[in-house]
Amino acid sequence: MAVAVLTSGGDAPGMNAAVRAVVKFCAREGLEVHGVRNGYEGLIDGFFEPLHPRDVDPIGSYGGTVLGSARSKRFMTPEGRAAAARQLADHDGLVVIGGNGSLTGAHALHLEHGVKVVGLPASIDNDLGCTSLAIGVDTALNTIVEACDRISDTARAHRRVFVVEVMGRQCGYLAMASAVAAGADACLYRERGKDEDTLVAELGAVIDRGFAPERGKQRVLILKAEGVEVPTDRLVRRLQPLADAVQADVRGTVLGHLVRGGSPSYQDRMIAGRLSVAALTALTEGKSDVMVGWQPWVPGEATADPSCQLFPLATMLEHTASLLDGSSPVTRRRVRMMEQFEGVLAV
Ligand code: F6P
Repeated sequence: MAVAVLTSGGDAPGMNAAVRAVVKFCAREGLEVHGVRNGYEGLIDGFFEPLHPRDVDPIGSYGGTVLGSARSKRFMTPEGRAAAARQLADHDGLVVIGGNGSLTGAHALHLEHGVKVVGLPASIDNDLGCTSLAIGVDTALNTIVEACDRISDTARAHRRVFVVEVMGRQCGYLAMASAVAAGADACLYRERGKDEDTLVAELGAVIDRGFAPERGKQRVLILKAEGVEVPTDRLVRRLQPLADAVQADVRGTVLGHLVRGGSPSYQDRMIAGRLSVAALTALTEGKSDVMVGWQPWVPGEATADPSCQLFPLATMLEHTASLLDGSSPVTRRRVRMMEQFEGVLAV
């Protein structure tokens, strides 16, 4: 049996730890394993390289992805997927490590060409259904919290308001979770559905209270999710006149891609390893068109690892869509959790 493995979409810390575990599992089982360069782009062009345990020994601690990644436009076409399937003719299975778009692609490869695929959830955004955590989320959160601590140092030195924007695409999870952990004063996320004027008015009140003499804060920190439509610089411009009333300056920082890099945390390496072993076990048992979720909210098919469960990719993609459109109980729980913090964060 020969297995191909690729990483796709936005890289996430822990992808390399997953590749390492896939290669070592295959070595133990006597399977050949080939790494595909640059995600689906490399698959279409047949860029395979054999991987041995000696190649992957050090990579578990590396950020990014040693296999390379891409957002392949060619793979989004039926012709591109047909070419990718042809390149896999000599392989018995494909392991896809990636997020929503990448696993949608894996599902299409299976449906259209019968390719055996297993998916591992990897995306800093934590916007995937059927997994409570995706590979990369924990490291990204640690990076954001550390950045907020640093920004708070300089903010306190100048008694400033800081708006810190974090990635997450349409999902506010990174902003929500890091706002609680960093002790922010407010958190803005798309799922709350507030319009710009309401946000500005509420933040004005937070600034006013925070810098009031009786409270005497030295910094006001506002975590803002990328999915919130108002651009950070415009928000800063609109808040400044309100902050003038309490003699404070407002600054904005967009953390951007900084949050995607760095050596993966213990948690990301650990879940990457365990999800990989569960996924490869499923593949060798003949399963296909599935993703392994980590401690999911919804019950899936049990694996030998109590924290890892299998889900059909179609089910996972449905749950992902409802997580993003707000109809999922997971989204509602996240919003409820943040509502409990409203008023607490700002104290
Ligand atoms: O999906 C991961 C992610 O980092 C999102 O948070 C962000 O919106 C996007 O990728 C950025 O993509 P790119 O690296 O292609 O600019």
